[in-house]
Formats: sequence, structure tokens, C-alpha cells
Amino acid sequence: MNGKFISIEGIEGAGKSTQLQFIADYIRSHGKQVVVTREPGGTPLGEEIREVLLKPTDQAMAEDTELLLMFAARAEHIQQVILPALKRGDWVVSDRFVDATFAYQGGGRGINEQRIKQLAEWTLQGCNTDVTFLFDLPVALGQTRVEQRQQQKDRFEQEKQEFFERVRNCYLARAEAEPKRIKRIDASQNIEAIQQQLKHQLLPLLESTR
Ligand code: TMP
Repeated sequence: MNGKFISIEGIEGAGKSTQLQFIADYIRSHGKQVVVTREPGGTPLGEEIREVLLKPTDQAMAEDTELLLMFAARAEHIQQVILPALKRGDWVVSDRFVDATFAYQGGGRGINEQRIKQLAEWTLQGCNTDVTFLFDLPVALGQTRVEQRQQQKDRFEQEKQEFFERVRNCYLARAEAEPKRIKRIDASQNIEAIQQQLKHQLLPLLESTR
């Protein structure tokens, strides 16, 4: 397989969407085919599951339900989109992947990490990202950016600051534990500085597959 699998992660307001497009365009400019996708979602069924997961509602969702729905969408995504693309030799750039489950359902909700690992082993079957960019910034700054969007907050965005502090800390711990795969990017910098860092990280990967 010549293609690479890249994901981007971070708390709300980290500016992932802008950078996702930049990453995809940069890889394409090196002559590669790129599939841009997202989680939860990326397939018709996955997008339906996304709606259920993100819809703001007064009805509480059990933590295990949330966890299993994330993995249900992911199973579909891996089988239908990610593996076929990588087999073709395409690159895959996904807005979130399994690190989000460790951070949000593990760190945020407090679900035991071992349980998430078991589901990850079962669902991923060895398919994980080659590189994950963690767009990191202080929670308060992320929240200010979300407030400025002037659109209705989804079920996760409605969580309190403490929730996102736990999510962020979990992401940072994972980046520290797996420095080769998870690259922390300081998302409080200006766009040009962020994109410089991204290029610097992507170039060796692009050159390794020439
Ligand atoms: P986003 O596309 O705006 O990042 O929204 C997706 C939301 O879903 C975000 O709040 C993070 C959350 N999420 C989880 O809680 N667990 C997961 O495994 C994934 C992929 C996303």
C-alpha cells in the first residue's frame, strides 16, 4: 500500500476544518489522489449515525451507547472508505479517527480505556493512522471561537469547560505516549505558522512514498 492515512484531531474551535483542506491540497500538489472524509460519518450510514450522535437533545444518551455508535460508524467507514482507498494507493485525510474516542469517550466521559482498546482492536483490525495532527489550544480559546460561530451548538459543544479540559489532557497524554504517530500542532499560532509546521511534517511522508 502506497497511500498514507492521516487524521486530524483537537477540541472544538481548534480550526481543524481550514487545515484539513490545506493538508489535502498540499498532498494533491505532490501528485497524489486524496480522499477527504470525517468521523463520525464518511459513509451514508455513518452520516446518519452522526446525526443521532450530534443532535442537541434533552434526552440523555448512555455513555456506552455513545461509545458503540462511534465504533459502529467507524466500522462502516473502515470497510467502505478507508481500506478501499488505501488499497488503491490513495491517501486518506480524515477529520478525526479513533484517538477522538479515547479523548472524548475515555477522557471526557470517563469510560475505561481498556474497554475502548478492546473495541478498537476488534473494529480497526490493525488499521490506524500513519500520522495524526493534534491541533492543540487552551480550552477557553477554543470555546470563544465556537461562541463566535453563531450557529446552534451540537450535543458535544454543549458540554462544560471541565469536559473539554479532560478531552484535551487525554489528547496531550496520547501525543506524549506516541510521538512518532501523533504530532502536536500549536493551534493558537497564526494560520501561516501552522501551515509551515504541517508542510514540515508532511514532506518526509510524501518523499517516502515517491
Ligand atoms: P466535529 O466534526 O465538529 O469535530 O464534531 C464531531 C464531534 O464528535 C466532536 O465533538 C467530537 C465527537 N467525537 C467523539 O466524541 N468521539 C469520536 O470517536 C469522534 C470521531 C468524534
